[in-house]
Amino acid sequence: MKKALISGITGQDGSFLAEFLLAKGYEVHGVVRRASTFNTERLDSIYADPHEKSAKLFLHYGDVADGGGFRRILEKARPDEIYNLAAQSHVRVSFDQAEYTADVVATGTLRILEAVRDYVGAGNTVRLYQAGSSEMFGAAPPPQNEATPFYPRSPYGVSKVAAHWYCVNYREAYSLFICNGILFNHESPRRGETFVTRKITRALARIKLGLQEKLYIGNLDARRDWGYAGDYVEAMWLMLQQPAADDYVVATGESHSVREFLELAAAHCGIDWTRHVETDRRYFRPTEVDFLLGDASKARRQLGWEPRVSFDDLVRMMVEHDLELASQERTLAEAGHTVHRGASQA
Ligand code: NAP
Ligand code: GDD
Repeated sequence: MKKALISGITGQDGSFLAEFLLAKGYEVHGVVRRASTFNTERLDSIYADPHEKSAKLFLHYGDVADGGGFRRILEKARPDEIYNLAAQSHVRVSFDQAEYTADVVATGTLRILEAVRDYVGAGNTVRLYQAGSSEMFGAAPPPQNEATPFYPRSPYGVSKVAAHWYCVNYREAYSLFICNGILFNHESPRRGETFVTRKITRALARIKLGLQEKLYIGNLDARRDWGYAGDYVEAMWLMLQQPAADDYVVATGESHSVREFLELAAAHCGIDWTRHVETDRRYFRPTEVDFLLGDASKARRQLGWEPRVSFDDLVRMMVEHDLELASQERTLAEAGHTVHRGASQA
């Protein structure tokens, strides 16, 4: 049985990847940050008590800011494949927390590379996937592919570029099997609620059911190449099954503006968004990435990977999920329960 170790397993992609690998028969180990509240909600459907004989998912407390702890997890789990998905992944927040973002995204990756270097040096074999991002292209004109020079526009983007080059360097210097996936935006009903797609579907669904009146949002003109997260984790896995390590762009090859996403989501909800949406400067970034459009022909050719879920289906899936959530919220509210919505600044 193959074993995988996932950092960032509690995030959107981590949860899809864990499901995907379990379905393939892997034993899956995940790194979970200690928090004062439960942060494993996205894993609820696959989590089984580790005391049960059939358990295939094991969680370990850790943090990529803590290299020693990560080394111990590596020794304990002894994986065949590592997926480094851990990140402070919010671009706007990275302007507020630049040093922290660099420590987790750039130096955190370096800590994992150092651990892997020593682990392989001691005679073990392991393959590493690094979660790179289209944010690394930033201001580079579209379409962007593996040959496009990086021009990051945020502390997050710069940190991902550093992580990318650390990985290339360790691959060349120590002959490690490391793949950089350069993934364009990918979404799902599990997307964090402060990313624009989920922020929109969550708010429109609540507006439709009378639970809120307004949605305050930033730049409607930015364009993104949006795919479905469930499709993208397959590409991560495929990269690590190749005979040689390489870097790949993963994207749909279709770009839409935030306004187009909003219009389509509102149409699915059956509401007139112009009556409910207002712009707020706080959601604009000091430097914006205006136009992302990926050219994933290398992934199609070499990995045989293709996106399955269309833009329209993605928006519909997210809207339907959030309408259901809003309906549950309304039922609770009508029964006199207070529904806690969190406090978001992003
Ligand atoms: P996400 O939902 O924000 O999940 C991030 C994960 O990283 C969470 O499990 C989080 O734990 C964990 N994490 C944060 N800081 C950590 C630390 N110091 N040590 C250990 N774990 C830490 O992000 P995602 O959308 O799943 O993305 C996964 C990865 O792909 C990230 O590296 C992201 O930058 C990259 N990426 C994402 C996209 C996209 O469109 N989704 C595109 C390109 C690249 P908590 O649950 O405790 O917060
Ligand atoms: N979050 C957010 N909130 N974004 C807004 C808002 C708002 O209220 N209004 C407009 N936007 C615009 C942003 O300015 C950006 O141009 C676009 O919507 C997408 O923003 P996000 O959904 O926050 O995603 P992102 O593109 O910045 O970053 C995501 O994709 C990257 C891959 O390109 C994240 O998942 C990153 O971790 C990932 O690397």
